[in-house]
Amino acid sequence: MIKVIDLKIENQEILFGTDILKPRFSWKLKSETAGTCQIAYQVQVFEASFTMKKLIWDSNKIQSTESIHIEYGGPSLESRASYCYKVRVWCSNGEETPWSSEQYWEMGLLHKDEWVARWIEPEQEDVTEEPELTLEDMFIKKNKGEYSPPEKKLHSPKIVRKLFTVDHKPIEKARLYITAHGLYQAKVNGKKITDAEFTPDFTSYTNYLQYQTYDVLPHLVVGENVLGVTLSDGWYAGRISIPGGSAQFGNRLGLLAQLEITFTDGTKQMIGTDHSFQSADSHYVYSDIFIGEKQDKNLDKIGWDCPGYECFTHEWSRVKVAEYNLDNLRAQYGEYVKPMETLSPIRIWKDESNAFIIDFGQIIAGRVRVHLQCSKGEEIKIEHSEVLNEKGEFFSNIVGRNKEQTDYYVASGENGEVFEPTFTFHGFRYVRLSGYHSELLLDDITAIVLFSDMKQTGHFQTSDTKINQLWQNIQWSQKGNMLSIPTDCPQRERAGWTGDLQVFAPTAAFNMDVQSFLTRWLWNLQREQTNEGEILNYSPAPKDIWNDLKFTGSISSAGWGDAIIIVPWVLYQRYGNHRILEECYPAMEKWLSFIEKSAAKGKENNENDYDRYLWDTKFHFGDWMIPSFMLGENPQGPIASALKTKDCIATAFYAYSSSLLSKIANVLGKKERSHYYDLLHHKVKKAFEYAYVKDTGMLTADYQGVYTLALAFDLLTEDKKTKAVHRLVELIKLNDYRIDTGFLSVPFILDVLCENRYKDIAYKLLFQTNCPSWLYEVDHGATTIWESWEAIKPDGTVGAFSFNHYAFGCVGDWLVRYIGGLSPMEPGYKKFKVEANITDQLTHAETKYDSVYGEIKIKWQMVDTNEMFLQVHVPPSTSAIISLKDVCEDNITNLQTQLINRGYTNSKFIKEENRVEFLVGSGQFDITYKMKKLSKEACLKS
Ligand code: BGC
Repeated sequence: MIKVIDLKIENQEILFGTDILKPRFSWKLKSETAGTCQIAYQVQVFEASFTMKKLIWDSNKIQSTESIHIEYGGPSLESRASYCYKVRVWCSNGEETPWSSEQYWEMGLLHKDEWVARWIEPEQEDVTEEPELTLEDMFIKKNKGEYSPPEKKLHSPKIVRKLFTVDHKPIEKARLYITAHGLYQAKVNGKKITDAEFTPDFTSYTNYLQYQTYDVLPHLVVGENVLGVTLSDGWYAGRISIPGGSAQFGNRLGLLAQLEITFTDGTKQMIGTDHSFQSADSHYVYSDIFIGEKQDKNLDKIGWDCPGYECFTHEWSRVKVAEYNLDNLRAQYGEYVKPMETLSPIRIWKDESNAFIIDFGQIIAGRVRVHLQCSKGEEIKIEHSEVLNEKGEFFSNIVGRNKEQTDYYVASGENGEVFEPTFTFHGFRYVRLSGYHSELLLDDITAIVLFSDMKQTGHFQTSDTKINQLWQNIQWSQKGNMLSIPTDCPQRERAGWTGDLQVFAPTAAFNMDVQSFLTRWLWNLQREQTNEGEILNYSPAPKDIWNDLKFTGSISSAGWGDAIIIVPWVLYQRYGNHRILEECYPAMEKWLSFIEKSAAKGKENNENDYDRYLWDTKFHFGDWMIPSFMLGENPQGPIASALKTKDCIATAFYAYSSSLLSKIANVLGKKERSHYYDLLHHKVKKAFEYAYVKDTGMLTADYQGVYTLALAFDLLTEDKKTKAVHRLVELIKLNDYRIDTGFLSVPFILDVLCENRYKDIAYKLLFQTNCPSWLYEVDHGATTIWESWEAIKPDGTVGAFSFNHYAFGCVGDWLVRYIGGLSPMEPGYKKFKVEANITDQLTHAETKYDSVYGEIKIKWQMVDTNEMFLQVHVPPSTSAIISLKDVCEDNITNLQTQLINRGYTNSKFIKEENRVEFLVGSGQFDITYKMKKLSKEACLKS
């Protein structure tokens, strides 16, 4: 029997307090029958309150094989209302499914005037502004910024309280709509109302601030209740980003909260923030996302968030009502940050200073929870780091102003004391705990892993333990860098660098369901786009970003700003998400028109028609961090690699983005625009060849990455292409089969080699263990992907780099496509290709991907020297082209007969490649076949 399962709305199982006016429904089919395909569906939506259920939209039977992103088409959805939906489908075999179970969702506050609550601000000193520290100060003048002790400049997080009485009559529902300037933790009667952390999420607060909706009914009691909220600086007012500047979005903590209790008799009680709320200092001495948190348990106002507590006037003051425009408010979209996993230490020891060093065995983003046996007033210090130095000692790998990553706890001396910070997180594997006079046992301390609660969708495993470790490292770097926004690293800058995400997006989309998470981030990019069309280097953008102009004269860069085109395209390819293309399209056009103008700037009188298509007019990061500029005794550094490559790399991205935009315009039915961008692409391509390609086929910037991008973006004519491939291979050989590609070209190098008949070299680079290489890091104990390949040098010296930068983990996407054998062919993997590239370094690989249509599984195993077993699972409503490579010629007829007997009549034999290819619908396929003898060279080169 076929069943409709896994219903999702806006990609979530639970959608609570949304302001999406046309939510989209998706579902999957569960079927034991091969060849199951939906041919029609019906969706019904009901308005569903406590007392009634009314059909408001019936799609009726729609002939369609689509089961993803089906848009609600009924009457306008109303504020606060709850709805439910159900789905049934008809399948190609004539079967009709029963109705699915019903799924509920609820709308948030859709109109500004529904907020009766006012912004309130506790009595407070304004957040201390950090002195200006520009990139020029940091990188040229080598000024690290004055150190000033946190206690001198950080203020205590505030607690805000409201006592209210609930009448003795049945309640239908109780909702809290809430947001803050800063971060909040809300409690009702002393109980946390959610396991979400770091709310509101990091967005471009000034023009995009999310409010959250919680069901607080389970926490209310008849009679007296207390709403208690703690506020801290967070990303809004705290120290963030590269220079660690403060007050980037505002310098005062504030709260906006509206508790609405609806009784079954139709009456309503509203408790909105206003001047009747009271505030005080808390037991948090200070709390800062980057610096760390200090709590003094002795300052705790015990019971402050419960009824029965007496607020002494010398401690508590009335809040002030503040005037802020509510135009920036939007409902929560996407998953909350949550404690996702816990880790126990693998080892604890004491260092020379008698401090405990705790090794959690894994680099993470998160914090520790520690059970303590202290005397009153004992102060514990907890520092965090990702590595030990070459002598095995605690080593702070993160340097810079306000990057302490250090928490303090002053104990009350009570039995069973537990410390865990609330409003901070750190990037670490090791912790140094000092000032503690009791024994610390393994069970006393736990690491809490924090990231946005996205579902893991991808699994990948091979017969090679090092490749598996690399895979784990990629996953952990994703976990560590997807806490609220996609970041470069979770300890130093923690910024939403567009370039880093752009290169990693395909891998990220395999590992986890990043649709909503990245949609929210893309909304930030759009809102922060300048009037001229620039997409900022990182987003959400603190005000300090504008200081970068003094350093490079620029706040956007090729390959970074292009994220506005590339990332939505990835979301469309991987999830069939059409809406994100529509939503971002205006920003994409604006970005491209900025490039057009920027490239042509000052060239009005140039005689040569090519010149204005060369984007050589401003600063770019180029192929950032090319290893040969970064490694060795006296490295030239990343700015040098930027300057050497920026013009041709920027022009290459100009061409690439125009070709992508041409495709996107086409998908959106904008034929004329598509044609325009296609023409533009060709003009830029010609200009690239004219300016950067010599007759010999050599490029003016003779670097692996530049060849890689010229080939990947198809910027060369056939004859030059062959020469460029040869030069690329030559450069790789000269570099002893090690990569020398920077941020922007790493994602393409292995593909380019494979597509140009150098699969052997691609595998050599992959299996390389000398620096720079992915497995060099693995061999040096990496548990995440490093920012610099040589963060630990061959002689063991440890550098002050980030050890958790996902960018170079972009190889994950190649691993899945080439080794796992899974590539999407149609958006959302509605059709996909199964083609594993067997190498004799591996004997098996297993790939599982929970696509939007259901789970895809591919497993291949060399059973004998040349016998291959392949198992493929194709989910309902999708199809796959299974392509078997290097089939032994004597075996072809046999294999084809086998296939025909099983009903696959469409198999093709492609002689030159000894490849058999056939198309299948849903179901499981087990195939055993003989491969031609895989001599190392022949096999790898095929
Ligand atoms: C960040 C990167 C980022 C780069 C851009 C670095 O400091 O950590 O990952 O993309 O700057 O220049």
